[in-house]
Amino acid sequence: MDPSRDNPIIRFATFFWGLGTFFIFALIFAVIWFFNHAKPASMEDAAAIPRYATKAKIDAAEAANISPEAIEAAIPVLSKSLAASKPMAVEVPAQIVPGSDMAKKLASAPAVDTKAIDAPVASDAPIDPAVMELGKASFMLCAACHGQSGEGGLIAPPLAGSVWVMGPVSNLIRIQLRGLQGTIAVKDKEYNMPGGMAPLSFQSDEQIAGVLTYVRNSFGNKASAVKAEQVTPLRGEVGKPQITAAELTKP
Ligand code: HEC
Repeated sequence: MDPSRDNPIIRFATFFWGLGTFFIFALIFAVIWFFNHAKPASMEDAAAIPRYATKAKIDAAEAANISPEAIEAAIPVLSKSLAASKPMAVEVPAQIVPGSDMAKKLASAPAVDTKAIDAPVASDAPIDPAVMELGKASFMLCAACHGQSGEGGLIAPPLAGSVWVMGPVSNLIRIQLRGLQGTIAVKDKEYNMPGGMAPLSFQSDEQIAGVLTYVRNSFGNKASAVKAEQVTPLRGEVGKPQITAAELTKP
């Protein structure tokens, strides 16, 4: 038998060797864990760290440079875009609670004189190509339902050759701001699509003017341009139920 097993000094020392080894391994694992833990998980994360640091420096420098005058000047712009981004319009009259603030607001809203908006404009007035470009970009949205060339289809009537499109501007603006429901005759055909057309009032006045100018002057259509100043006075229409053909001005 190994005589060391009975030697209390050797047994005592062996116990501490064991304990020491345990702590050394524990320390190594703790060090590995600590450094892995703090390390970014991927190359992208590693690259992002200096980018965030740089961005924080730029943000701080920019914030320090904004003058109180610049902040004051930005407030009307910001509040205008906030006001324009009203919550989703109420689509059905039944959804407006009678006696509610919304019902009162809509009832007391002064009727906008659409005559001024629809005042005839010389049809040969030149159209700003930048407005057409803006309109073309927004038209992607309309194309989903009305077709790439405004030819219409199973889900929406045509815009190409439609008297509504080339007719009074206020009709088109109100359709954008309120949507449209019920029967509407387009190119000798009656349409009454389930659900109608939803309001697209999230667009800015400039976007609405652009897209309407674009549809009035594309696919063989020819009509005057629409100006953002014609859209602005009708903003109060937002939130009213989807408009019907009967409420529109006859083209
Ligand atoms: C989700 C589908 C959809 C989208 C997107 C859409 N519309 Fe419509 N639109 C309709 C439907 C459906 C009708 C017919 C509603 C009805 O039956 O009463 C309609 C009707 C119209 C009308 C009147 C009828 C006509 O054809 O002349 C105009 C004008 C019009 N839309 C313009 C636009 C414009 C401009 C856009 C893009 C900014 C647009 N629509 C986006 C579905 C859509």
